[in-house]
Amino acid sequence: MKIIKILAISGSLRSSSTNTNILKIIGEMSAKSVDFQILEGLDTFPHFNPGVDENNENVALFRSKIKEADGVIFSTPEYAFGVPGVLKNALDWTVSSGEFNDKPVAAISASPLNTGGDKALASLLLTLTALGTLKNEKSYLSIPNIKQKISPEGKLTDNVLQNQLELILNNLLEQISNKSDYDN
Ligand SMILES: Cc1cc2nc3c(=O)[nH]c(=O)nc-3n(C[C@H](O)[C@H](O)[C@H](O)COP(=O)(O)O)c2cc1C
Repeated sequence: MKIIKILAISGSLRSSSTNTNILKIIGEMSAKSVDFQILEGLDTFPHFNPGVDENNENVALFRSKIKEADGVIFSTPEYAFGVPGVLKNALDWTVSSGEFNDKPVAAISASPLNTGGDKALASLLLTLTALGTLKNEKSYLSIPNIKQKISPEGKLTDNVLQNQLELILNNLLEQISNKSDYDN
């Protein structure tokens, strides 16, 4: 049985983050054939500065985790209508090294507001396009009113959202499978 590696990246550093909890839920939904790992330590990277700190070990580990992953899934909050600085900083470290090129991705933004973090999601998708990732019209999801759909302990309480998360995971797995058919 081929193990599919998915790296999950949350844009929130909060210990009780709803976005991290969404990634945990998706991890629990995944089949045994999926090695689902949530990235930690986004806040340990230096500020991106082209040509400087290129040998930083945390950045190197991040790049190697992306490279090894068959697909990457993001879930991020929106801060002041944008992508959290820690997430954008991490992605900037991969622009010239190219680990995201041709990498199947999925992107989620969850917010307690009824706009669902749509501006952060749009911005993240633009960056993911710049990085050369593989995605389609089913690769992203904006989740409004998240606090009514997930308990403070991180348990999903909304069937529609359950279905949406399954769809986004399945679409990512399909993109990974299509790519490996093409690569072989
Ligand atoms: C400084 C700050 C700015 C915020 N700006 C936005 C925003 O522009 N849009 C939005 O939908 N939510 C905004 N929020 C609310 C976050 O969506 C909310 O705190 C969310 O729960 C954070 O995600 P997390 O639970 O994954 O940590 C903001 C929160 C903070 C603390």
